[in-house]
Amino acid sequence: MPHKFEQRGSWQRLLAEERKKLVPPAKVLEVLGVRPGETVLDLGAGPGYLTLPLAEAAGPDGWVWAADISEDALELLRQRAQEAGLANVRTLKAEETRIDLPDGAVDRALMVNVLHELSDARASLAEVRRVLKPGGALLVVDWERAPMEIGPPFEDRIAAADAERLLEAAGFATERLSWPHPAHYALRCAAPV
Ligand SMILES: C[S@@+](CC[C@H](N)C(=O)[O-])C[C@H]1O[C@@H](n2cnc3c(N)ncnc32)[C@H](O)[C@@H]1O
Repeated sequence: MPHKFEQRGSWQRLLAEERKKLVPPAKVLEVLGVRPGETVLDLGAGPGYLTLPLAEAAGPDGWVWAADISEDALELLRQRAQEAGLANVRTLKAEETRIDLPDGAVDRALMVNVLHELSDARASLAEVRRVLKPGGALLVVDWERAPMEIGPPFEDRIAAADAERLLEAAGFATERLSWPHPAHYALRCAAPV
């Protein structure tokens, strides 16, 4: 069973300044292509490192659903959104393979460093596909399966090629993107129309 972030570190680590080199929020916004007025799902949002930039990009007419299995992470996320004056963020307590949103509820979805924590990746990806609109887009960023001093245990990591296979099996058309830090890979995934 993969380790959950909650067992490995403090939520503040996910908000550290040095993360901007590994996962630059501007790069995430650029490749996910969030437009004002859209509805976005941040699955495994943690304390909202990326939720807040997504909410700014979606604007006052858009929404961000921040879903996570950890109520502690969501509590911190709500505080941060409130302090930032962002009224378009909604938190959602996720079950391991269940997101309590209707079919086709979101235009775009994001999973940053979440895939390797899922206990049933196939079921979770099917659920993401269900809540995405036909033609919607998912961006997956995760750790390369290589020995390194940072990040999750090696045995939990999912190689990019295996991630692509899982995503294709869930019905997505995947495209590998270049990423500014070698510790990560990024996959843009299109849901069928
Ligand atoms: C390493 S953190 C990444 C948080 C955030 N995406 C970021 O990049 O700052 C992984 C997050 O995924 C959440 N998570 C793990 N399994 C999940 C699941 N099945 N459904 C929703 N969230 C999950 C964890 O609680 C944790 O907050």
